[in-house]
Amino acid sequence: ERSQKLLEGASRVTSMVRHDLKSPLQSIKNAVHIIRRNPEKTEDMLDVIDKAADYASKILNDLKFITDPGALQRERFDIVKLLEERIKSMVTPSRIHIETDFPESLPVKMDPTMISRVIDNLIRNALEAMRDGGKLKLSLDIRDGMMNLLVADTGVGISNDNKQKIFQPFYTTKRSGTGLGLYYSKLAVRSHGGKIVFQSEIGEGTSFLVTLPLES
Ligand SMILES: Nc1ncnc2c1ncn2[C@@H]1O[C@H](COP(=O)(O)OP(=O)(O)O)[C@@H](O)[C@H]1O
Ligand SMILES: [Mg+2]
Repeated sequence: ERSQKLLEGASRVTSMVRHDLKSPLQSIKNAVHIIRRNPEKTEDMLDVIDKAADYASKILNDLKFITDPGALQRERFDIVKLLEERIKSMVTPSRIHIETDFPESLPVKMDPTMISRVIDNLIRNALEAMRDGGKLKLSLDIRDGMMNLLVADTGVGISNDNKQKIFQPFYTTKRSGTGLGLYYSKLAVRSHGGKIVFQSEIGEGTSFLVTLPLES
């Protein structure tokens, strides 16, 4: 019935918000923790907190994207800088080794909030696939006016059965997953005129390749 449908819709939105607010809230908690232990780092950490709070409120604004995919807010920014910021903001256990291969800088014109959510989703998935440690490799290159972002992990991999399902909304194999990360990422990349593909081998790892026009 109708009220049941509304309730389902509401709980989907709720789980989406919870999913996406995790990373800025985590950054804020980390920063507070660092300030408590090293008060001399307060100034730097206030920047981190400020940015994370901005990011969180943008996420709330972005919720309408799911119902209104046309709403791109393009800006010029350096995607290498964005990548480095996103990596820095992640809590990565010491058993995970991160390797990056980026150009010095790469100016693009895209929606920075959407693109950073895509990056966060891919990195978070990779980390979650490597509970016992491993290597996360991020690389960026340009070809024919397109940028290719590769996010590769040495994690658990994806079974052939699950390969068809991972982009479906609410499909998750995690106990506290929402199954919205890749669904959102695909929508966001597609609305920029790009595409997202992956390769995976059980027990070997997974790599996602995001191809985007430099100016979408
Ligand atoms: N890097 C990865 N390694 C292994 N499995 C992955 C990876 N990325 C995504 N998956 C699979 O795709 C599913 C959907 O991912 P996602 O949409 O981000 O939702 P969630 O992370 O909440 O489960 C995950 O539950 C997992 O089974
Ligand atoms: Mg995810």
